[in-house]
Amino acid sequence: MKNDIKRICVTEEKIMEIVKRLGMQITKDYEGKEPLFVGLLKGCNPFMMDLLKCVNLRCTLDYMDVSSYDGCTSTGQVKICHDLDESVEGKDIILVDDILDTGRTLNEVKGILSKRGAKSIKLCVLLNKPEGRKVDLEADYVGDLVPNEFVVGYGLDYNEKYRNLPYIGVLKEEIYSK
Ligand code: IMP
Ligand code: MG
Repeated sequence: MKNDIKRICVTEEKIMEIVKRLGMQITKDYEGKEPLFVGLLKGCNPFMMDLLKCVNLRCTLDYMDVSSYDGCTSTGQVKICHDLDESVEGKDIILVDDILDTGRTLNEVKGILSKRGAKSIKLCVLLNKPEGRKVDLEADYVGDLVPNEFVVGYGLDYNEKYRNLPYIGVLKEEIYSK
């Protein structure tokens, strides 16, 4: 699997630095509060778990599965495949995702949680791809910036594969043409 990677964009060490930094920042910002972390499946998985280990708060977590992608092209449609178990009403929500690209997914989910009566909603993403943006949305907590290239690893997939890579990388061209 690692042979399929052309270039590493964010190393394992850098990811660990990022989760520690964001975890400390969230711990400070939410002092005295009990936020609900809402992770977007499946991409949030490793990031959410590593991040939570660095958050020193009495918090809860829940997951939502929404999809907007087919292969590596944004379809611009967001569909809820699995909804939250917990109510968000009156709660401080930290919405966690792997990457902010067009912004459509997080924008839609933010809108849904807001309509359900969340008290506050902040966005936390491991990666930000500013050049991909199609809606006016920025994240409150950002790990790192990536250029406008399709990246995989540490939760991010290409056709459901490569999520288990410990770092973020760009695939070799021949993988896409298979
Ligand atoms: P957005 O709605 O375009 O911001 O995309 C958000 C979702 O698209 C993320 O949760 C990812 O699952 C997926 N996505 C966007 N860019 C990439 C990428 O470069 N690699 C893998 N998945 C991506
Ligand atoms: Mg995703």
